[in-house]
Amino acid sequence: MNPITFYRSEPFPIEFHKARIVQKLHLVPVERRLAAICQAGFNTFKLSTRDVFLDMLTDSGTNAMSDNQLAAMMQADDAYAGSQSFEKLLKAVQEVLGKTFFLPTHQGRAAEHIICKTLIKPGQIVPMNYHFTTALAHITEVGGHIEELLCDHALILQSAHPFKGNIDTDKLEHSIQHHSPENIAFIRMEASTNLIGGQPFSLENLTQVRRIANQHDLKIVLDASLLGENAFLIQQREAAWQHKSLGDIIQAVTSLADIVYFSARKLSSSRGGGIATNDKDTYLKMEPLIPLYEGFLTYGGISVKEIEAMAVGLYETLDPDNIRQNPDFIAFMVNGCSHKGIPMVTPPGVLGAHVDAMTFCEHIPQSQYPAGALASAFYLCSGVRGMERGSVSSVRDENGDDIPADVELLRLALPRRVFTLSQIKYAMDRLEWLFDNRHLIGGLRFTYEPPVLRFFMGSLEPVSDWPQKLAARFRKDFGNSL
Ligand code: F0G
Repeated sequence: MNPITFYRSEPFPIEFHKARIVQKLHLVPVERRLAAICQAGFNTFKLSTRDVFLDMLTDSGTNAMSDNQLAAMMQADDAYAGSQSFEKLLKAVQEVLGKTFFLPTHQGRAAEHIICKTLIKPGQIVPMNYHFTTALAHITEVGGHIEELLCDHALILQSAHPFKGNIDTDKLEHSIQHHSPENIAFIRMEASTNLIGGQPFSLENLTQVRRIANQHDLKIVLDASLLGENAFLIQQREAAWQHKSLGDIIQAVTSLADIVYFSARKLSSSRGGGIATNDKDTYLKMEPLIPLYEGFLTYGGISVKEIEAMAVGLYETLDPDNIRQNPDFIAFMVNGCSHKGIPMVTPPGVLGAHVDAMTFCEHIPQSQYPAGALASAFYLCSGVRGMERGSVSSVRDENGDDIPADVELLRLALPRRVFTLSQIKYAMDRLEWLFDNRHLIGGLRFTYEPPVLRFFMGSLEPVSDWPQKLAARFRKDFGNSL
């Protein structure tokens, strides 16, 4: 797990960076946390960070930036067109991702918008390992349909399978035969499949997908938002690649895809996103949409300072000391909690530690959103803000019925290089208390539900007065302490 060996201590992950700018945190009392989560409609997206102690909502735009990124931001060449900052970014994309053409977008979902608008005809299918919320929304927005073809192990939450993000290649061949290739828009592969617990795919699997795509003349679109960490786990878990550098692995992955898009908010600890390809025809089809929806071709809606940070951040994905921090800390948290009997998604993935809410809250029916309830309950007892990744994040069918999510997860994101080990231990301690008191957690129901991406702004309410009872138990057990 560690690049260093300890003398007598049990191994633990160690930071290969030091903090030089810090932000003060506040832990508000449980009574305030109760009021805050009620005001937020039991949706952690709607909490103010004033009431949040450790913000584990997401790694998106919250990874720590490096001194070199901040230094580069001071040199930004602020020009509407022809900015030299963009030239640096283009060079970084070419060198790190191995793609010649690059279109900048204001963030990852904007790249999804452009790709879907260009490549999907109404009624076409997009087979994939697994969806991400915004990708699904953009595919359906243009009349496409998704088909999720994960390997059988993927949804077994406690598993030892190293690559649960693998697509099932038999299912993929069958899907292409069944629909016929002209009805397939492209194959989408997501690095470190976000919604099933940040689980990687293997290079062996992607190579097979390429072989199948070639047979049917289909394109592969890679969501590379979490590619650095996926590459790190390939190095750790796939024997053929253990002696290769992260740079070699990243290029091996991207060379198997026709189009690579990403959220720079995740991949390179900055802002923005983009689409990279070596396919000039596809590039030229997408190019006119950038000035229409994003901004001129040399900024794409991203601030020029952030373009500089993105270029440096892309090179930093090649540094194992940088990339391993997130998976190593996650492994520490997942293994420590699993050891206490808390149902965690295993093997540990990337992005965050994921709690299996359906097992944690087995008394809460899925129709009452156990992952949403767990996210609220955990905030209440800790001030730690996680994110629901379950049926609240799902959608309704044509009859207006909830489509239950395959998995109900509480995601505790560990943005890169942000939290210390003691803060992680605090979160683990409070999660253990909540596990011991899990019978006090109750369900939720919607009171306000937006028509798309409802998890962002939706409001819920508890089905009973369980939050008050949980807060009272906290006071009883912890006295006057925070
Ligand atoms: N693809 C993946 C795999 C993502 O995780 C995200 C964002 C996007 C695309 C969209 O990128 O936010 O820049 O528009 N994930 C964030 C998260 C929101 O919290 O997991 P974006």
